Amino acid sequence: MYIIEKSLKLSENVYEIWVNAPHVTRNAKAGQFVIIRTDETGERIPLTISKISGDLVRIIFMAVGKTTHALAAVPAGGAISDIAGPLGCPSEIKKYGTCVLVGGGVGIASTPVIAQALKDAGNRVIGILGARNADFLILEDEMAEICDKLLIATDDGSKGHHGFAADLLKQVIGEEKVDAVWIIGPTIMMKVTSNVTREQGIKTFVSLNPIMVDGTGMCGSCRCVVDGKTKFACVDGPEFDAHQVDFDNLMQRQRYYMEHEKEALALWKE
Ligand code: FES
Repeated sequence: MYIIEKSLKLSENVYEIWVNAPHVTRNAKAGQFVIIRTDETGERIPLTISKISGDLVRIIFMAVGKTTHALAAVPAGGAISDIAGPLGCPSEIKKYGTCVLVGGGVGIASTPVIAQALKDAGNRVIGILGARNADFLILEDEMAEICDKLLIATDDGSKGHHGFAADLLKQVIGEEKVDAVWIIGPTIMMKVTSNVTREQGIKTFVSLNPIMVDGTGMCGSCRCVVDGKTKFACVDGPEFDAHQVDFDNLMQRQRYYMEHEKEALALWKE
C-alpha cells in the first residue's frame, strides 16, 4: 500500500495528491508517468508525474470517471494499492536555446517539471498556460518562478489574454526566435496548437494520453499513429513529434469506452 501524504482540491474536480513512493521518485525524469490502482480490483489509470520532493511524487488529476473520483475521495493519510513507475520515455531535454512550454487545463500539471529540466539544461523558457477560466488555472506561481516569461490565456477572459493558448504561442513566435515547443493538454487543444508551429517547422512535442492498461507495451490499448506508423504511447512515448501525430485517430480511440465509463461512474456513485 502507498500512503497519500497530502491531498487537496485545486479547483472544481481538479485534485493534487502527494504519494509516498520512493521507487518512483528515485528514478523519475521529466515527462514520465505512473500507473495507479486505488484498490486491488480497480482499473489501472496513467497519470503524469507533476513534481518530485524527496520520497513524494505529486500527481494532479481531474476527477472525470469512476477511478479518478475514487482517488479524489482518498483522504490525506489514506492509501492506494499500487503506483507503478516511472513509466514512458523522459522528455528530450537538451540545450535548444529558447523553449516554449504550453499547458492547457489539467495538462498544466506536467509543465513545471519539464520547465525546470529545460532551465537546468541552460534554455530560456517561456511558459504559456491556458484554462477555461481563472478558477481552473493551476500552478501559475510555480511556473512564474521557473520560467523567464509566463503568459496566461483564459477562454472567458477572466485572467490574461481572452482566448486560447494558441493565440499566445503565435504571438511569441512572431516576436522572437523559438527553437522548441512542448504542448500538453486536451487532445483537441494539442492538435490545434501544434498547427501554429507546423509551417515554421519548429520542433514541437506533444504528450499523448490514450487509454492505457499495463503501461509496459504488452496490451496494445495505447496504440496511436505517428508518422503513419503504429506506436505505443506507454513505451515509445508519451511524447511524440506533434507534426507527425494522427490526432483524429487518437480522439476516436479515446472515445471507445465512453459509455462504459459513464455507466461505471453512475454505479460507483450509487
Ligand atoms: Fe498496454 Fe501501452 S498501455 S501497450
